[in-house]
Amino acid sequence: PDLFQPERPNSLGFDLRDRPTLQHIEDARQPFHANQWHGAPLCASEGITGDTSQVLNPSDPNEIVGQITWATPETVALAASSARPWLASPQERCATLNRAADLLEQNFGELFALLHREAGKTMLDVVAELREAVDFLRYYAARTNGAPARGVIACISPWNFPLAIFTGQISAALAAGNAVLAKPAEQTPLIAYRAVQLLHDAGVPRSVLQLLPGAGDVGAALTSQPQVSGVAFTGSTATAQIIHASVAKHLAPGTPLIAETGGLNAMIVDSTALPEQAVQAIVESAFQSAGQRCSALRCLYVQEDIAKGFLEMLTGAMDSLVATTPWDLRSDLGAVIDQEARAGIMEHIDAAQSEGRELKRCTVPTNGYYVPPTLIRVNSIADMTREIFGPVLHVATFKATEIDDVIDAINATGYGLTFGLMTRIDDRVQHVTERVHAGNIYVNRNQIGAIVGSQPFGGEGLSGTGPKAGGPFYVDRFRHTQAPTTGT
Ligand code: NAD
Ligand code: ALA
Repeated sequence: PDLFQPERPNSLGFDLRDRPTLQHIEDARQPFHANQWHGAPLCASEGITGDTSQVLNPSDPNEIVGQITWATPETVALAASSARPWLASPQERCATLNRAADLLEQNFGELFALLHREAGKTMLDVVAELREAVDFLRYYAARTNGAPARGVIACISPWNFPLAIFTGQISAALAAGNAVLAKPAEQTPLIAYRAVQLLHDAGVPRSVLQLLPGAGDVGAALTSQPQVSGVAFTGSTATAQIIHASVAKHLAPGTPLIAETGGLNAMIVDSTALPEQAVQAIVESAFQSAGQRCSALRCLYVQEDIAKGFLEMLTGAMDSLVATTPWDLRSDLGAVIDQEARAGIMEHIDAAQSEGRELKRCTVPTNGYYVPPTLIRVNSIADMTREIFGPVLHVATFKATEIDDVIDAINATGYGLTFGLMTRIDDRVQHVTERVHAGNIYVNRNQIGAIVGSQPFGGEGLSGTGPKAGGPFYVDRFRHTQAPTTGT
């Protein structure tokens, strides 16, 4: 089926542009209380044991969400030796992945509660992420064919889309017929555990899909198993560089590494932009998901002529951001993922404040790992030396004659994930978008929330290797392509 239909209703049956209704929240809240999930490695071999830890809710660290039993490097070796490619026909693989998508939809309430609690996500973010996970399954299911699989794919994923990215990597590798060894982020193992259980329930054999919950040591063990014939990684640029070295050292020459990594994403607002539209797009791009999106806006360039009034409007809009308690439908942003993340972001904000560069800091609850949405002045994106993965927006101004210098500075960061442009000048759209290095460019709208099938997502340079996730070429990277020629 052709799933390239951007306007179709989302897989969950209600319109994403609306907030979820109270009834959806009540349905999810009632049966699922905290501390009821227990995750563990899901391997072809039975009887795997390891250390167990508690998983806490980042919005309320007093709440225990569940327990996780970790894999060890020894578990990884065992799983790699028992991994078997998926010998089912392309039609069977397609049907099984679609059945898994159905199961995700049927278990919506539980997954909703778990995503919300384990990752500290707002209602709106949870709904969008569930939809994206289902969309990945159906989109890649539709791209199965008879080309040979590569063999065993290691899938390593981040915590910020612990269901969607986790499921996306796995379903693409499975669609191509590979065995998968999946390592979710250590912060969010329970939602990954439930997703793999549902994939097994849908009919993916345990020797084909194995779950290895663990931290970086488990990931490192995974990328050095000789059976691994491809790695799909999403996470920070620094970790991608470590994995790149490990693949080169331990795996066969030419083993593919798909790395989708971080960004220093910019937006340019010129004096012809519609201010109300631009402010709304900026607030969404910088602060939705508490800024914990690789696509999030980090550095805003505003044309000097309009900067004063524009920044007043922006800080006014920031005042209307709501960060309250878990389950509050009005909440625009939740907590960041853990104490370490919060401390690192707050250090950056406090340094800017002490240097007199903080323009605005909102208020947030104090009980969870919340970080206040903050606006910080910079001279240029060149002042930003690392990705601050939270609700922090940096702002610089430029003169009309300096637009090419701004583009040069953005390109000089070496990253190239998302870029936004707000202008009413058609020639400028062409001029800027032809020059800026970014995988996903958004004009006169926000720059987050790429939709599977209609906005294939992925960056260039330090932001990723391609091919774009949710695009037509992604599954091909997980299989060999053949060019048969038949004589007469
Ligand atoms: P991270 O790099 O810290 O961790 C990602 C995964 O790598 C985790 O599962 C982690 O356990 C694992 N890992 C850590 N060390 C490893 C090693 N030595 N070998 C193998 N695996 C190892 O990233 P994170 O903090 O989980 O996620 C946030 C980052 O991800 C941000 O930089 C964000 O921009 C990026 N991200 C990128 C995209 C994209 O599509 N480009 C999407 C989401 C997140
Ligand atoms: N694909 C996600 C987005 O576009 C990261 O925001």
